[in-house]
Amino acid sequence: MLEAMSGRPSSTVLVGRDEYLAVLDAALARARDGVPSTVIIGGEAGIGKTRLTSEFAARAAEAGTRVLAGACLDMGAEGLPFAPFSAVLRELVHDMGAEGVAGLLPGHATREVARLLPEFGAIEKETDASAARARLFEQILALLERLADERPVMLVIEDAHWADRSTRDLLAFLVGSEQVLDRVLIVVTFRSDDLHRTHPLRPLLAQLGRLGWVERIELPRLARLQADELAARILGHELAPSVADEVHRRAEGNPLFMEELLGHDGEPGAQLPESLRDLLLAAVRRLPEETQDVLRAASAAGPGIEHPLLAAVTGLDDDALARALRPAVAANVLVVRGDGYAFRHALIREAVYDDLLPGERTRQHTRFAEALRADPGLVAAGRAMIEEAHHWYHAHDTTWALISAWHAAADARHALASAEELTLLARVLELWDKVPDAAQRIGTSHLAVLEQAAEAAQTAAENELGISYATAALKETDAQAEPQRAAVLLETRGHLKCHQGQDDGYADLEAALDLVPAGRDDVARARVLLTLAGHSRDPYDPRAHAANVEALALARQAGDHATLATALCGMALRESRAGRDADDTALELLAQARAAAEQADGYQPRLHVAVTESHLLEGMGRHEDAARVAQAAIAGARDQGLPRATGALLAVNVAEPLVSLGRWDEATEVIEHALALSPPAAIRGGLQVLAGLVALRRGNLSAAADLAAAARASVSRERHTGRSALQFWLPLAQFETELRLAQDNITDAVAGAGAAADTFELMSYPRYSWPLLATAARACTAAAAAAGAVRSGTQAAQAGGLLGRLRALAEEMPASGPAERASQLTFTAEAASDPAATLAGPTAGRAALARWDAAATAWDGVRQPYPLAVALLRTAEAALTTGDRGDATRRLRRAAELAGSLGAHPLSEEIGSLARNGRIALTGRAGDERGEAGHRGYRGLTAREFEVLRYVAAGRSNPEIAAKLFISAKTASVHVSNILTKLSVSSRGEAAAAAHQLRLFDPRADGTGL
Ligand SMILES: Nc1ncnc2c1ncn2[C@@H]1O[C@H](COP(=O)(O)OP(=O)(O)O)[C@@H](O)[C@H]1O
Ligand SMILES: [Mg+2]
Repeated sequence: MLEAMSGRPSSTVLVGRDEYLAVLDAALARARDGVPSTVIIGGEAGIGKTRLTSEFAARAAEAGTRVLAGACLDMGAEGLPFAPFSAVLRELVHDMGAEGVAGLLPGHATREVARLLPEFGAIEKETDASAARARLFEQILALLERLADERPVMLVIEDAHWADRSTRDLLAFLVGSEQVLDRVLIVVTFRSDDLHRTHPLRPLLAQLGRLGWVERIELPRLARLQADELAARILGHELAPSVADEVHRRAEGNPLFMEELLGHDGEPGAQLPESLRDLLLAAVRRLPEETQDVLRAASAAGPGIEHPLLAAVTGLDDDALARALRPAVAANVLVVRGDGYAFRHALIREAVYDDLLPGERTRQHTRFAEALRADPGLVAAGRAMIEEAHHWYHAHDTTWALISAWHAAADARHALASAEELTLLARVLELWDKVPDAAQRIGTSHLAVLEQAAEAAQTAAENELGISYATAALKETDAQAEPQRAAVLLETRGHLKCHQGQDDGYADLEAALDLVPAGRDDVARARVLLTLAGHSRDPYDPRAHAANVEALALARQAGDHATLATALCGMALRESRAGRDADDTALELLAQARAAAEQADGYQPRLHVAVTESHLLEGMGRHEDAARVAQAAIAGARDQGLPRATGALLAVNVAEPLVSLGRWDEATEVIEHALALSPPAAIRGGLQVLAGLVALRRGNLSAAADLAAAARASVSRERHTGRSALQFWLPLAQFETELRLAQDNITDAVAGAGAAADTFELMSYPRYSWPLLATAARACTAAAAAAGAVRSGTQAAQAGGLLGRLRALAEEMPASGPAERASQLTFTAEAASDPAATLAGPTAGRAALARWDAAATAWDGVRQPYPLAVALLRTAEAALTTGDRGDATRRLRRAAELAGSLGAHPLSEEIGSLARNGRIALTGRAGDERGEAGHRGYRGLTAREFEVLRYVAAGRSNPEIAAKLFISAKTASVHVSNILTKLSVSSRGEAAAAAHQLRLFDPRADGTGL
């Protein structure tokens, strides 16, 4: 090994970057205070991203921050899954030993991190890759969390433009989860000049850019004065003005270029090459021939290379290699890094590599491949196969390229990197025809490779590719001879097609079914039946129903618990849609489903049951039960090590009932927490709609408008257009219509509602269609009233036309369960309100009163305070026209109380204005602004704070409270400090004492459930 030597002149001082150091400083300070914080640094090659980051990291480390750094590698198409994270883990293991790292993982479980670093032991075979991947992500997150418990952490991921897809996914997850990561600063660098239009990093940057805590820096070239200073620092003396002009003209303030120019035998002269690349090469060419040989070999390796591998490839012994390398290190072309070397800058490597003659390139890659073949131990564990695949491919050795790609694909699969697996399998298929005995070489048929590729594509959510591979595989399958095999492929393809909204997917599923008749492979048949039933466009389709029934029987017979649970969930959904009062049957089926899921392997079946159950309970108007079931499932997911991955999915099911129940503060917390986890687009959209509704009803119109735009963008990104996508589109349409009405934009409200009625098959999802219908009807009558005022015949006609269509739809559409019926009654009341009559006489008033009364009673029944308050307001309005002031007063006061306790300001105002107009005194106190039903308002504590105080009094820590209330630890700590302020105490102990002293809690109730 060589010692690092000072070589080529460079500046020991960081020049002209104070502004950016300050940005990083502030970001780290925020992170230390527990505020999420990520900085993304872009800039062209050589501009100083690495230098800035490492200078800052050194300072931070000195001040007690733990710095973890990993770089992405330029490995071309193969990628090296999770490369920078493997590097970080390796560094940690080096510092604290594998045992020490394992000690930081929840339950010492190294099961998934072992996929990144074989030092952690053998990898278990995984049946559910996506669950394992979720666990891996959780483990890395947990690891960072625990490390940051000791001291602040700065995680640096360098050169993200080379990141493989797995690294990008994990990075997105970590940055997205930063709200739960106290005291962690994440810094990402990338070469912005290398990002072509379709570069895969672009969407990730856009996604991260939307998070409030992500800051983007674009490092500019040095300005003239800074450049002159850098030049002086590099050379140790000022430049003559004429030379300085020349240097600046050439290097344009790029520090790397300046170093090369100035390092070029002293002063730059006229014979200097113009381009940076040529300049970099000129520096290499000045080195001894044997040194250049070694550099040329090293350039084929990638940015870094281990000493033993370089020795093996060059055939030099240690001494000879050291001799050859010394001048390169002295000239600062190569730097010593760990157990090996790296080019000082990636551009130098690229220049040397690009300068290789084609034949030479092939030869170098062949040597690497052969060396690795002979001794995989030459590179870090777990990397040999994928590197071998890279080298054989670039060595143009088709046979070995194919074989090694096949084995590397298996490694990628173990590492849970299905996108990389897919790339490698694509290469196997690409090379197949060029290798005559390919099947024998890898012991697998072309068809089997296609099947595996289809599966990997499905896991990687590359649906179009999955469809193509499945199609290719089907062409090679003899359905007569191997019906099961063909059925699996047809099922995969049909499922993917349906998911992509392609109409012919259903035909595939039916064909698959024909291939597995009853009595052959009943579990396989049951699965196809369920996929078929699940994708049915018409929920009342009798064939889908029959398929579900048959699947249920088959799964039961075969004793396959997971399939049985799915079948029972499907039946429960069908029952609930079947019409009125099938709720008991549905719940009974779900109880059976839960029992089956308990007996099945893995957490997925239980999750499926919980999602279905909470969804159905919410639809039945049993909002509290719905929230409870979903919350329990989140707790279960946490035990499985999957809290965040599944948390976002379940959060929708928690937030939806909380919004219904008027528990808006809690709903908002759950939503914010879930949004921080970067959920998939559609779920994000669902959460944004719910958050938007709360903002809107509380009167925050601008926040609501932002959320509406964000939600539309999110939901539009979900390409799935089947029926289940309606659960996102319809609430969005309802929310947008309500928003436009609040903005007094009646024309757009009508137009938007009309467009939704045109686009979506409303009949297929009454649960979400009824609320939309009710709001749309309101828009229509508002439009008619407005048109009447300005005498606009066309506007009235348009609104009238839409209202007619809505009425016709409502005639046909079933309403099952009390919540749908409440919406239906609201629709009826809205649709009947006659703007021309404007409740002119007592007869019309009495009719309106009856209709709104029915709606109010229904909303009261399902305990939805907001629509109840709205309905009460309308009844009060109607009662006034009938002349019954006493009745009107009672109703309006109740409405005012409800709206007040919800903090529904616009509604409160509307109520207030009716009260003024009708000379009604709203003596019923409007209630605490933010409070919710039932809290005592002691010292201005909100209901939520009261709840938190209860746990504080019971001696619970913030993380424990967070777990109990399904909020982040940080949110819990914010609540606690608010409580301390409001109670004027300085510690939790004092707060607890105060609570006890004041008998805020019934001592008997204290112990229960805490
Ligand atoms: N502000 C600066 N002051 C002094 N030297 C710098 C500065 N920025 C970059 N350098 C030097 O220029 C070279 C290229 O910088 P580097 O950080 O590797 O670029 P990047 O990572 O953006 O490609 C390095 O030798 C680095 O030390
Ligand atoms: Mg760099």
